[in-house]
Amino acid sequence: MKILVVGNGGREHALVWKIAQSPLVAKLYCAPGNAGIDRLAECLPIGVENVDGLLEFALRENIDLTVVGPELPLTLGIVDRFRDAGLAIFGADRKAAWIEGSKSFAKDLMAKYGVPTAAYGTFEDAAEAIAFIRRQGAPIVVKADGLAAGKGVVVARTEAEAIAAVESILCEGAFGAAGAKVVVEEFLEGEEASFLAFTDGTRIVPLASSQDHKAVFDGDQGPNTGGMGAYSPAPVVTPEIHEQILEQVLKPTIAGMAAEGRPYSSILYAGLMIKDGRIKVLEYNARFGDPETQPLLARLKSDLVPVLLACAKGDLSGIELEWHDKAAVCVVMAAGGYPGDYVKGQEISGLEEAARIEDLVVFHAGTKRVDGRVVTAGGRVLGVTGLGATVAEAMDRAYQGVRVIRWPEVHFRNDIGGKALKR
Ligand code: AMP
Ligand code: GLY
Repeated sequence: MKILVVGNGGREHALVWKIAQSPLVAKLYCAPGNAGIDRLAECLPIGVENVDGLLEFALRENIDLTVVGPELPLTLGIVDRFRDAGLAIFGADRKAAWIEGSKSFAKDLMAKYGVPTAAYGTFEDAAEAIAFIRRQGAPIVVKADGLAAGKGVVVARTEAEAIAAVESILCEGAFGAAGAKVVVEEFLEGEEASFLAFTDGTRIVPLASSQDHKAVFDGDQGPNTGGMGAYSPAPVVTPEIHEQILEQVLKPTIAGMAAEGRPYSSILYAGLMIKDGRIKVLEYNARFGDPETQPLLARLKSDLVPVLLACAKGDLSGIELEWHDKAAVCVVMAAGGYPGDYVKGQEISGLEEAARIEDLVVFHAGTKRVDGRVVTAGGRVLGVTGLGATVAEAMDRAYQGVRVIRWPEVHFRNDIGGKALKR
């Protein structure tokens, strides 16, 4: 088969790495890819938002399966366009991707179908949002309704901070059209987990549990990022919690989407807050998580290609996932300054040395090849992923890799996986 992966992050490197191991694959492409992906797939200079360009390429090359990583092309309707052209594609179609594309839609869906989530209000008018904030008090959470590259959520410790967020989103247009509405919601305490499942609209095939680390600094301090590291399995997801997620979240969500005329056949990501044995949904994503996909795919034993094909065809019958009996920890090495301003173009050293370490995979995110050298080209640069018999051993392995890789202004957290050790 000829397969095309769309995207250029650590998630897409992990997808390409896993897909490349399948005996079903004859030729692998990635658009646009990065300096790690280009070792495993032919990279194409087509941006993820260039749906016309991607479709034209897939038709010309008779691509048998296209796999979409990021949310933007999903909300632009790439899946609908490919299917209309008779091409197999893995991803949520435009209507299904709305579960991520609009937080107010997702909250209303949860309310309607009884999925546990934080109490909330949705506002287009700043004065009304501010009045709500004053009634509820802080801490409180303000979210831009639409896609904001992981930056549209403010966990406000004070009313003033929440009001400033509303003003920036609704009055100053910090996120453009994505900020035409805000969701203001109850602050939830607890421990987060990420739960991903393949579904064909009726059947559900869950992946192993995982946990992301959103905040930029150790001990969950500082602003939120796209994710500074993740590990799997996450012991916070006990067998009882797993069951609750299936019964209280995945089943009603998937049935609700079908009932709303938005049947869902792809991977569904539920971001959860867990406290005292109860779960609440923080958000849905209509795609694989990043960085979660890096430790998850490092642990997946089954061939991924038949699973992706089954989702693309809308029939997961007979599909089961097998996992390696190892834990995986992925430490994101980022550019100093991220999630704010940061410099690009710094040369990365130590990649060859890291490649010689057993049970370690270095997934590339924001990297680029310039005159044979690998340089930084984004905020999250690498996902250094270690495997081990336990989370502690996987952590040791990942940080062994981190220690041999460097560039001048590198930043990473030192405590990825730490919460698992506390249990
Ligand atoms: P979201 O994109 O909605 O998942 O929000 C990004 C991050 O903000 C989450 O992973 C949480 O760390 C935090 N967050 C979102 N909603 C809440 C909430 N209601 N209470 C506490 N933290 C939240
Ligand atoms: N790691 C969080 C996300 O993929 O949105």
